[in-house]
Amino acid sequence: MDYKKQTAKILSSTITDISPDEIYSMIEIPPNSEMGDFAFPCFKLSKLYRKSPNLIAEELAEKLSNQKTEYVKKVENAGGYINFYIDEETLAKQILKNAIDEKQDFGRMKIGEGKNVIVEFSSPNIAKPFHIGHIRTTVIGNSLYKFLGYNTTGINHLGDYGTQFGKLIVAYKLWGDEQEVKKAPIATLLKLYIRYHDEVETSPEMEDKAREWFSKLENNDEEALRLWKFFREVSLEEFSRVYDLLGIEFDSYAGESFYSDKMPEVIQLLEEKNILEDSQGAKIVDLEPYGMPPALIQKRDGSTLYITRDLAAAIYRKRTYDFYKNIYVVGSQQALHFKQWMKILDLMGFEWAKDCNHVQFGMVALEDGTLSTRKGRVVFLEDVLKQAIEKTKDIIKQKNPALDNLDDVARQIGVGAVIFQELSNSRIKDYTFSWERTLSFEGETGPYVQYTHARTCSVLKKANMEVDSDIDYSLLSGSKDAMDVIRVLGTFESTLLRAADKNEPHHISRYVLDLCQAFNKFYHDNPILIEDNKLKKARLGLVEATKYGIYNALSLLGMEAPEKM
Ligand code: ARG
Repeated sequence: MDYKKQTAKILSSTITDISPDEIYSMIEIPPNSEMGDFAFPCFKLSKLYRKSPNLIAEELAEKLSNQKTEYVKKVENAGGYINFYIDEETLAKQILKNAIDEKQDFGRMKIGEGKNVIVEFSSPNIAKPFHIGHIRTTVIGNSLYKFLGYNTTGINHLGDYGTQFGKLIVAYKLWGDEQEVKKAPIATLLKLYIRYHDEVETSPEMEDKAREWFSKLENNDEEALRLWKFFREVSLEEFSRVYDLLGIEFDSYAGESFYSDKMPEVIQLLEEKNILEDSQGAKIVDLEPYGMPPALIQKRDGSTLYITRDLAAAIYRKRTYDFYKNIYVVGSQQALHFKQWMKILDLMGFEWAKDCNHVQFGMVALEDGTLSTRKGRVVFLEDVLKQAIEKTKDIIKQKNPALDNLDDVARQIGVGAVIFQELSNSRIKDYTFSWERTLSFEGETGPYVQYTHARTCSVLKKANMEVDSDIDYSLLSGSKDAMDVIRVLGTFESTLLRAADKNEPHHISRYVLDLCQAFNKFYHDNPILIEDNKLKKARLGLVEATKYGIYNALSLLGMEAPEKM
């Protein structure tokens, strides 16, 4: 039973000037249950009926009062809204039964069934640090398009190709040492890269050499390929350690190099469509009519660019996955790049260009300035995760020295703390990384949520009895504490839809924090393991439902939920 739909139905029987669908989408859930379970704002109607929203709400509420169903027990108007009150017992039963019966599928939907969605995320650059600037794409990407029935493919579009590899090969051949690279791959390769940039100032001929080596790589020269593969492999080993800590897996690691043999076709397609122009031997697409600088597609020496590979990748993905949506979780600094190539796809006549979507996020800075790999101002993601884990260990040793599998739990909580803090803000805001904030487990944090989940597990374990949805819901509907928990649980599905619609996981973090707060209040004021068996069973049902309400939200965010901590 979907009470929002019911409410929409009641409304559309009286309001005929707005479509039922629009009415449905206008219905809100009031911030406070005293204002009802659903609210319909009358401000839009004001123009239509040439009356004040207050007056409209008053008149409509009166008409609608006669249409109450067995579920809607009261209709009232207040401040331009019509508020609907659903019978609490019915509400409690519907929501809790759903959660208790569905368990780890509670909230799962089918709206995406039969549709393929690609989420490209993380995508670090080979031979460069995997740093705190990558955390957002990694954890945001990992949380999108889950639970909605879509067939989602996660792609790591590794930055493993391009002229910088010519430079790296030159540097490695001059100063590199295999053993040293193997010991500390990224740190060593980075040093080589930085040294190249220092020395090229005084030895500009190195630049020609670097170009030559990249060209060799593009032409499958054996030595160039061997070195490039070596750099790629050792870098990936480092990246994998971070993905393992985060518990993230990709369906594909098709990065930039994967498209290296697909460039000629892109150039040919662009030429066929007559959108490629010659500019001093290089090939460009003029984007001035669209208010953008021209896009360089091929250099004079024939080498291709980042943007060429993005065009090839999009075309390849459409062919391979026939995507409904092709999502790119990439920082806002690259907004122009994405706008450019998406426009080019459009100019090429690909109607699916509109299904490619750049999901942006704000920049991460450090307290002492912007991140700068070359200046050594960089915080490695692995260090952040490891420190969070260490700190968690210390806390557990103090508070719960008897805990089994300390290492595993510490990893789940430490990593969870980092993920949750990233996902609890709107993604578009720039922010400054702070060790202190990341390692603070007080207040609205991941550990707080995980702790609440562990609390539900421990109560259920202590109760040591079968919990099912066959309970007397009237025992809960009378209690404000219980209804507050139930109402939050009831918003889970709409929260997921909103988060998906806006590509904003922070709606899910907000939901789970609200749920924990309501539950902790309930837990504090309502003893659960009591004599009265019927009441105990009803309260345990609420605990069980909460457990899944938290667990499922955390798993959507990419976090684990230990049963003990
Ligand atoms: N490797 C790039 C970077 O670290 C991000 C790749 C973004 N994805 C893309 N399809 N261009 O900046």
